[in-house]
Amino acid sequence: MKFLVIHGPNMNLLGLREPDIYGKTTYEELLEMIRGWARDLDLEVAFFQSNHEGALVDAIQEAYGNYEGIILNPAAYTHTSIAIPDALRAVGIPTVEVHLSDIGSREPYRRISYTAPACEITYSGLGPEGYKKGLEFLKKRQA
Ligand code: DQA
Repeated sequence: MKFLVIHGPNMNLLGLREPDIYGKTTYEELLEMIRGWARDLDLEVAFFQSNHEGALVDAIQEAYGNYEGIILNPAAYTHTSIAIPDALRAVGIPTVEVHLSDIGSREPYRRISYTAPACEITYSGLGPEGYKKGLEFLKKRQA
């Protein structure tokens, strides 16, 4: 089973960016954790990160036929994008939304997720553990 883990804007700066909110784990360290969990679950994972909405849409479109699941942290585009959830609905790949922080208990503008309705489940506020839960969810769903 091959899953694609997609990260939106500023996620490449994890560790540096607002560590009090997002933690001190760097983006590379996060990917290493996800690789480890994927190995334990006997899954293949690939990664994509972009600061550009259109590039995220392209990655979702290109996932069609190549991946059986997507784990998506759309970052700030969670709260603004129509094109990303449209792309998810277009390709129909089962997707889990993940946020390191709890978007439901932060600023009011973060409480709305335009992407969540196009995803099967959202894990928010669990830190890196949310990605592990996402992998487990997708594996169980495909079994
Ligand atoms: C985030 C939450 C978003 O509101 C924010 O814009 C991010 C990261 C998270 O993982 O907690 O960039 O998606």
